[in-house]
Amino acid sequence: MKRRNFIQLGVGAGLVASWPSLAEPRQLPITADLIYSQNSQGRWAGKASTHTPTIEIDKTDGSTKIHLITAHEMNGYDHYIVKHVLLDKQYQFMAEHLFNPTQENVARSVFTVGNYTGLVYALSLCNKHDLWLNTTEL
Ligand SMILES: [Fe+2]
Repeated sequence: MKRRNFIQLGVGAGLVASWPSLAEPRQLPITADLIYSQNSQGRWAGKASTHTPTIEIDKTDGSTKIHLITAHEMNGYDHYIVKHVLLDKQYQFMAEHLFNPTQENVARSVFTVGNYTGLVYALSLCNKHDLWLNTTEL
Protein backbone atom coordinates (compact mmCIF):
# COMPACT_ATOMS: atom_id res chain seq x y z
CA MET A 1 0.00 0.00 0.00
CA LYS A 2 1.33 3.39 -0.91
CA ARG A 3 2.02 5.73 1.99
CA ARG A 4 -0.56 8.26 0.74
CA ASN A 5 -3.31 5.61 0.60
CA PHE A 6 -2.37 4.36 4.07
CA ILE A 7 -2.72 7.87 5.51
CA GLN A 8 -6.10 8.37 3.82
CA LEU A 9 -7.34 5.03 5.13
CA GLY A 10 -6.14 5.87 8.64
CA VAL A 11 -7.82 9.24 8.68
CA GLY A 12 -11.01 7.84 7.16
CA ALA A 13 -11.18 4.97 9.64
CA GLY A 14 -10.67 7.37 12.51
CA LEU A 15 -13.54 9.52 11.39
CA VAL A 16 -15.85 6.54 10.98
CA ALA A 17 -14.93 5.20 14.40
CA SER A 18 -15.50 8.49 16.20
CA TRP A 19 -18.41 9.92 14.23
CA PRO A 20 -21.77 8.86 15.67
CA SER A 21 -24.10 7.08 13.34
CA LEU A 22 -27.58 8.46 13.16
CA ALA A 23 -28.97 4.92 13.12
CA GLU A 24 -27.24 3.83 16.33
CA PRO A 25 -27.62 5.08 19.89
CA ARG A 26 -25.06 7.77 20.62
CA GLN A 27 -22.27 6.75 22.92
CA LEU A 28 -21.31 9.17 25.66
CA PRO A 29 -17.56 9.11 26.36
CA ILE A 30 -17.71 8.57 30.12
CA THR A 31 -14.22 9.09 31.44
CA ALA A 32 -12.75 10.52 34.59
CA ASP A 33 -12.25 14.28 34.34
CA LEU A 34 -14.91 14.75 31.65
CA ILE A 35 -18.08 13.78 33.48
CA TYR A 36 -17.93 12.57 37.07
CA SER A 37 -20.14 10.00 38.77
CA GLN A 38 -20.29 7.88 41.92
CA ASN A 39 -18.07 5.29 40.20
CA SER A 40 -15.79 7.75 38.41
CA GLN A 41 -14.82 10.64 40.68
CA GLY A 42 -11.54 11.49 38.97
CA ARG A 43 -9.80 14.51 40.43
CA TRP A 44 -12.81 15.22 42.67
CA ALA A 45 -12.54 11.95 44.62
CA GLY A 46 -14.63 12.10 47.78
CA LYS A 47 -17.11 14.64 46.43
CA ALA A 48 -19.67 12.27 44.89
CA SER A 49 -22.13 12.43 47.80
CA THR A 50 -22.47 16.21 47.53
CA HIS A 51 -22.38 16.47 43.73
CA THR A 52 -24.12 13.45 42.21
CA PRO A 53 -27.80 14.25 41.70
CA THR A 54 -30.22 11.84 43.30
CA ILE A 55 -33.21 10.91 41.18
CA GLU A 56 -36.67 10.34 42.63
CA ILE A 57 -39.52 9.19 40.41
CA ASP A 58 -43.11 10.20 41.03
CA LYS A 59 -45.64 8.36 38.86
CA THR A 60 -48.97 9.70 39.97
CA ASP A 61 -51.95 10.95 38.00
CA GLY A 62 -50.76 9.25 34.78
CA SER A 63 -47.75 11.47 34.39
CA THR A 64 -44.19 11.01 35.52
CA LYS A 65 -42.32 13.63 37.48
CA ILE A 66 -38.58 13.42 38.05
CA HIS A 67 -37.17 15.06 41.17
CA LEU A 68 -33.45 15.82 41.10
CA ILE A 69 -31.71 16.78 44.30
CA THR A 70 -28.05 17.59 44.76
CA ALA A 71 -27.02 17.66 48.41
CA HIS A 72 -24.69 20.59 47.88
CA GLU A 73 -24.36 23.93 49.58
CA MET A 74 -25.83 26.98 47.85
CA ASN A 75 -23.38 29.56 49.15
CA GLY A 76 -24.28 32.48 46.94
CA TYR A 77 -22.20 32.69 43.78
CA ASP A 78 -19.11 31.49 45.68
CA HIS A 79 -19.95 27.77 45.58
CA TYR A 80 -23.23 26.42 44.27
CA ILE A 81 -25.02 24.16 41.82
CA VAL A 82 -25.38 26.09 38.60
CA LYS A 83 -27.96 23.86 36.93
CA HIS A 84 -29.64 20.50 36.59
CA VAL A 85 -30.08 19.03 33.11
CA LEU A 86 -32.17 16.04 32.09
CA LEU A 87 -31.32 14.01 28.95
CA ASP A 88 -33.21 11.14 27.35
CA LYS A 89 -31.84 7.70 26.42
CA GLN A 90 -30.33 9.15 23.23
CA TYR A 91 -28.59 11.92 25.22
CA GLN A 92 -31.04 14.43 23.81
CA PHE A 93 -31.92 17.44 25.92
CA MET A 94 -35.24 17.14 27.76
CA ALA A 95 -35.21 19.94 30.33
CA GLU A 96 -33.04 22.02 32.60
CA HIS A 97 -33.29 24.15 35.70
CA LEU A 98 -30.90 27.05 36.16
CA PHE A 99 -30.42 27.97 39.83
CA ASN A 100 -30.18 31.40 41.35
CA PRO A 101 -28.03 30.81 44.46
CA THR A 102 -29.14 34.09 46.01
CA GLN A 103 -32.77 32.92 46.01
CA GLU A 104 -32.62 29.09 46.09
CA ASN A 105 -30.94 27.47 49.07
CA VAL A 106 -31.53 23.86 47.94
CA ALA A 107 -30.52 22.39 44.57
CA ARG A 108 -33.82 20.70 43.78
CA SER A 109 -35.56 20.46 40.41
CA VAL A 110 -38.82 18.88 39.30
CA PHE A 111 -39.33 17.90 35.67
CA THR A 112 -42.58 16.55 34.23
CA VAL A 113 -41.84 14.03 31.48
CA GLY A 114 -45.35 12.78 30.69
CA ASN A 115 -45.39 9.13 29.64
CA TYR A 116 -41.71 8.92 28.66
CA THR A 117 -40.11 5.55 29.36
CA GLY A 118 -36.51 4.38 29.21
CA LEU A 119 -33.25 5.71 30.52
CA VAL A 120 -32.84 9.25 31.72
CA TYR A 121 -29.55 10.95 32.45
CA ALA A 122 -29.43 13.56 35.18
CA LEU A 123 -26.60 16.08 35.24
CA SER A 124 -25.65 18.44 38.04
CA LEU A 125 -23.14 21.21 37.40
CA CYS A 126 -21.13 22.70 40.28
CA ASN A 127 -19.37 26.00 39.66
CA LYS A 128 -16.18 24.59 41.23
CA HIS A 129 -16.40 20.80 40.86
CA ASP A 130 -17.68 20.36 37.33
CA LEU A 131 -20.34 18.05 35.90
CA TRP A 132 -21.81 15.01 37.70
CA LEU A 133 -23.98 12.27 36.22
CA ASN A 134 -26.57 9.89 37.51
CA THR A 135 -29.00 7.75 35.54
CA THR A 136 -32.09 5.66 36.04
CA GLU A 137 -34.68 3.76 34.04
CA LEU A 138 -38.28 4.94 33.99
FE1 LIG B 1 -19.00 21.80 44.58
